[in-house]
Amino acid sequence: MNHTLTASRRHSAEAILARASKRPSAVTSQVAERLAFLGAFLRKPQVVGAITPSSRALALAMVEGMELKRAKLVIELGPGTGAFTKVILERLGRQTEFVALELDKVSAKRLRQQFPGVAFHHDSAENLHHYVARSRSKRADIVISGLPWTILPRPVHDRIFREIIDSLAPDGCFATFAYLHGCCLPSAGRFRNLLKEHFQQVERSRVVWRNIPPAFVYRCSRPIPNKPLAG
Ligand SMILES: C[S@@+](CC[C@H](N)C(=O)[O-])C[C@H]1O[C@@H](n2cnc3c(N)ncnc32)[C@H](O)[C@@H]1O
Repeated sequence: MNHTLTASRRHSAEAILARASKRPSAVTSQVAERLAFLGAFLRKPQVVGAITPSSRALALAMVEGMELKRAKLVIELGPGTGAFTKVILERLGRQTEFVALELDKVSAKRLRQQFPGVAFHHDSAENLHHYVARSRSKRADIVISGLPWTILPRPVHDRIFREIIDSLAPDGCFATFAYLHGCCLPSAGRFRNLLKEHFQQVERSRVVWRNIPPAFVYRCSRPIPNKPLAG
């Protein structure tokens, strides 16, 4: 058997090897991200609320129609392992300030290593107003939430919702996602009603089937301030 490769065959074998040698790093980082996410879930299932990070398809649906380039202040709540963060950072304008609040200390530290120079704070979204008050613009143009709304304790849920409404600029936008399988739960119904009562415009995206589990996005704009939260 002749084991000698012709030049063109050697060339294509090298190309395949080069592609193969790149593949493990992409796969390795994806596996590392999933393991980190699973680790966060095992540490605090009642805070993380999912066993796998959101897909890029859901991240793209989250930022669809958002004027990230023109925004002065963009906030991310509950970035986890950074599934939405990557897509947000790719689209920010040069002057846009970006702040993210993550309750899980290990995840916040990992995010700081993964995205050096980006303002990830290990803090609850309940303290959003501190960060908005410290920002240059004092109002958030866009808030993007990865929070697990349906499992948050009611007082925490309501405090965060209030913080979002009070932090947004009058023409500000808010995006959050919900899992399709949870949309019949009473807590999901109450959340939907809260959105409709506290924003002048609420849109629901198509279902993102490529996410595990399938999910959709609520895009809300023009918050209605000073309205008490319904019981
Ligand atoms: C369902 S995971 C979503 C993570 C990521 N956005 C994604 O979609 O892959 C929810 C994230 O919200 C964080 N979280 C939960 N409660 C929070 C709070 N009060 N303040 C800030 N982050 C919180 C959790 O630690 C977790 O990282």
